[in-house]
Amino acid sequence: MAQYRILALCGSLRRGSLNRMVMNLAAEVAAPDMVFEEAEIRTIPYFDGDDFTKGFPGPVTALREQIRAADGIFIASPEYNFSLSGVLKNALDWASRAPDQPFAGKPVTVMSATQGPMGGGRVQYEVRKVMQSMLVFFMPKPETFVGMAHTKFDADGRCTDATTRKFVTEHMAGFRDWIAKIKKLG
Ligand code: FNR
Repeated sequence: MAQYRILALCGSLRRGSLNRMVMNLAAEVAAPDMVFEEAEIRTIPYFDGDDFTKGFPGPVTALREQIRAADGIFIASPEYNFSLSGVLKNALDWASRAPDQPFAGKPVTVMSATQGPMGGGRVQYEVRKVMQSMLVFFMPKPETFVGMAHTKFDADGRCTDATTRKFVTEHMAGFRDWIAKIKKLG
């Protein structure tokens, strides 16, 4: 059976990240043929144009290969000051450098989780704006914003909220369809 390889990038590095919990929930409720792999972005150095003249650092080369091999990109993005976390933006900046920019033509979706009520209503449009420059196919909708996220997962990181489960399940079904549509475009 054909599989959809999903590369997931989580913009939070902390152990108890609510965004990673949402990412794990997405992997849990996605169709069985959607196979998730999380990108390691912790070890990517700060982008420095001088370093770049010497080539891509190892962790960036690995990320770019993962992006190239993926059928779809899933972003779990915390909202920091209405925008992307520095680690996520840094990873996207490194990975998006020429030659052979690997994001081009990739289906992408985003989810966000916050402890406040808005669930990252601002950051998702920042992620869309940034990735627009990388020639991705960003799924227009559905959109999933998990507000008050700390009340929706238990101590083991499992989602306890039926509404969140339903939204994330529908979102992932939509993303599967979106990937299939983009694949048909060739
Ligand atoms: C935040 N947080 C936050 N929340 C929000 O809704 N809007 C915002 O603009 C910000 N800004 C912000 C800046 C910085 C530097 C931090 C560290 C935090 C709160 C944030 O959403 C909350 O800590 C989430 O739990 C972070 O995501 P993870 O780490 O749980 O995935």
